[in-house]
Order: sequence, then C-alpha cells, then structure tokens
Amino acid sequence: MTWLITGGAGYIGAHVVRAMTAAGERTVVYDDLSTGLAERVPAEVPLVRGSTLDAQRLGRVLAEHRITGVVHLAAKKQVGESMERPLHYYRENVEGLRVLLEAVTEAQVASFVLSSSAAVYGMPDTGLVTEETPCRPLSPYGETKLAGEWLVRATGRATGLATASLRYFNVAGAAGPELADTGVSNLVPMVFERLTEGAAPRIFGDDYPTPDGTCVRDYIHVADLAEAHVTVARALRSAPGADLTFNIGRGEGVSVREMIDRINAVTGYDRPPTVTPRRPGDPARVVASATRIATELGWHAKYDVRDMITSAWEGWIRLHPEAARS
Ligand code: WQD
Repeated sequence: MTWLITGGAGYIGAHVVRAMTAAGERTVVYDDLSTGLAERVPAEVPLVRGSTLDAQRLGRVLAEHRITGVVHLAAKKQVGESMERPLHYYRENVEGLRVLLEAVTEAQVASFVLSSSAAVYGMPDTGLVTEETPCRPLSPYGETKLAGEWLVRATGRATGLATASLRYFNVAGAAGPELADTGVSNLVPMVFERLTEGAAPRIFGDDYPTPDGTCVRDYIHVADLAEAHVTVARALRSAPGADLTFNIGRGEGVSVREMIDRINAVTGYDRPPTVTPRRPGDPARVVASATRIATELGWHAKYDVRDMITSAWEGWIRLHPEAARS
C-alpha cells in the first residue's frame, strides 16, 4: 500500500511518517506548510505542497502515487483560536475533509485514518472516558473533529471505505530533538517557556474537584501515538468496510501540579509554580480508558511522562540553547 499522510510536515504527522516508513509502509506527504515544516519530512518521502480544499491537486496526487490509504492529520488545532474564528475552523477541518473524502472516493482509496481528539468529549463526568462516553464538544475545534468523524463514518458506510477515528488525548514529547513541537500552546512547552524566561510556571486554577485541586489529563508520548497509527493502518488493510473508533491515551491521570514538578526535576530548574485564575472551558479531568485498542489490536503505550518531558526538553534546548542548565 501507499499511504498519503496529510499534515505529514506537522509535529504529529512527521512522527506518523517516520513510524510508517520504519514499519516498511510507503508514504507520501501532503501538506500546505501553513504550520508544517518541509525539513521535518524525510528526504526519501515525496512532499506535495497543497491544501485539502484543492480537489484537483488532491485528485492528481492520489492518482500519480497510486494511493491506497490516507492518514488525515492536516487541520487547525487551537481551541482558543477556534472560538474566535469558528468559520475558518469549519472550512479547514470540515470542508477540507469533505473535499478530501470526495477525492478519496473517486480514486477508490481503500483505507482512511482520521486524526480526532479527546476534545470531542468536552467535559466528561466520568473517571475514565471510553469510546462510548457521550460526545459533547465545548469548542468549535472539538465540534469540527466530531463532525469529521461523522463524515468519515458516513462515507465508509456508503462506499465500503475502511475507516478509523483516533481520539488523541494530551500529546507530548518527541522521537528526536529535530521533531519536537515548535508551538507553545500546550502545558509542557508553556512551562518550558516560562522557565526559560526566568518566570514561575503558571497553574490555571487549583480549586478543581481533583486530588490536588489542579486539572488532570492523560499524557501520551507522540512516538507511541505514531505507533498506534501504524497498528490501526495495518488493521484496516485486512478489514475492508471497517468502522473503528479508538481513544489513544495511557489511562493514567496526571495533574498539572505533578507535571510542573516533574518538569522542574527534568530541566534542573527548581521554580515553584504560581496559581492564576482558571482558564475558561477547562474540564477538571480527562483521562482515557485505553483498553479498547489494547484488547482489539494489541497496542500499548511504551513511554511514560518522564520520557515525554525529557525528549520534549531536548527539542526545546535545541531551539533555545540559553535554557539549558548543567
Ligand atoms: C493541559 C492542562 C490547562 C498551561 C488541549 C485541547 C485538546 C488537544 C490538546 C489539540 C489544562 C493547564 C496549561 C499552563 C496550566 N488539542 N495549564 N498552565 O487544554 O487539556 O487540551 O490541547 O489537538 O483538544 O483541548 O491541553 O496542554 O493546553 O492544558 O495550568 O501554563 O494544563 O489549564 O488543565 P488541554 P493544555
């Protein structure tokens, strides 16, 4: 099979490309390079610059490279920005996917893996979120991911396309310093940035109904997440007509305060955090039940939170050498 990886020049996509090629799969990257970086794509992997809204270009790429499967990661992913620009998010994430699915159907592609998110669950009122937990997204970003799942599933039902939606929990870490996330919009890089600037890391609220009062999340190493794509892609190959949905997390809740303590320990900074008001819209606890993919496909996460922080830090000091401590 040859897999088209949309968004393959992004932080997560580049890890998926590496994991798929290491597993012997042929890959082609399709990315508009709006946030992706061409240098993240291995030299031997063809990189086509284009938008998922460009039906003609997509049709050409699918035909020219004889694409038989698609892993679709190209999307906008900032929750806050999606509140300010909902139509932009619907256009990029929903209309872009609709156009892509039309091209995929036309080209008779066999398998489709969608990058979805725990954001589809919104504010779950359960200890462990299963794939059956009701989806009530709280942001246009989460809505576009849920609508994307519907589009993919409906297309599968109508055409026989084998589909899977992977709901990522909180992704962190890097498989190499050059592959690290360059954005500063999630907890780990935001804490790195504060430490580097000589400022105290911030905890957005410590009055949540959790053991230490700070929000609890399920952090997953991006290399484990990438391996999950390989496992799912292979499962689809032998399951025409499949309609799969999996949480991709570790099933372990870690609080913001625990994360900041561990970041301080790994980086050698010893900077106590400061507590600021809650960030609007943050659920107290979002932790995956990761048993479905383990039971059905045998995938398990291998890396822990320390591995995530250590590898993310190596990437951070590559870009910010002044941050390094002896
Ligand atoms: C984690 C926790 C913050 C920074 C979002 C999306 C999700 C996915 C991942 C895209 C929260 C707290 C953070 C800081 C803090 N996105 N925090 N101080 O909000 O769980 O998930 O990103 O695909 O869909 O919703 O992730 O990393 O922003 O925050 O206290 O300086 O850390 O309040 O509780 P979040 P996050």
